[in-house]
Amino acid sequence: WPYFIAALVFGYLLGSIPFGLLLTKFAGLGDIRNIGSGNIGTTNVLRTGNKGLAALTLLGDMLKGTAAYLIAYRYYGPDMAVTAGFGAFLGHLFPVWLRFKGGKGVATYLGILLALNWQAAIAFAVIWIAVAAVTRFSSLSALTASLATPLLLAFYFREPQASELMALLSVLLWIKHAGNIKRLLSGTESRIGSKG
Ligand code: G3P
Repeated sequence: WPYFIAALVFGYLLGSIPFGLLLTKFAGLGDIRNIGSGNIGTTNVLRTGNKGLAALTLLGDMLKGTAAYLIAYRYYGPDMAVTAGFGAFLGHLFPVWLRFKGGKGVATYLGILLALNWQAAIAFAVIWIAVAAVTRFSSLSALTASLATPLLLAFYFREPQASELMALLSVLLWIKHAGNIKRLLSGTESRIGSKG
């Protein structure tokens, strides 16, 4: 139990660093939460027109998930790594610093997956890019890739524990995309490259 709590809190604290918010603030672009969809993630940072900042947001939000998992793995082993990864995802989605209003989890999801199984992370990225290339919807790309990931982990890579963790994260990711799903269904979701 003490290890479990420690790993969860450690992951949470790392995951709760809102890179998109911090980077755009330091760059003098104001509060990202007042721009576009109001989200603090890469897609919305891209709506500021600054591709470099969007890339850094993606990298930061991803690697905090990877780091949480790998650091906990190194010191406390695989079970605590899963716990820390889960904590990092919760931290990104519900950061105490932003009154629990965080991001939608796509980059952090990918970062945790990268630590769990890098081939599955590549599969996620390929699916994301394929759907985005065809539809230009960032949200739909993430929804599709996060649906496929637990299935791939279970039936292709045969890693049930990784599949269970990612399935749990997928459910949270989908819940966080409720607004996007509504907009996709009503035809009002903004496409990558538009200011939305
Ligand atoms: O899945 C990408 C998602 O984060 C979309 O972001 O800003 O369009 O709601 P946004």
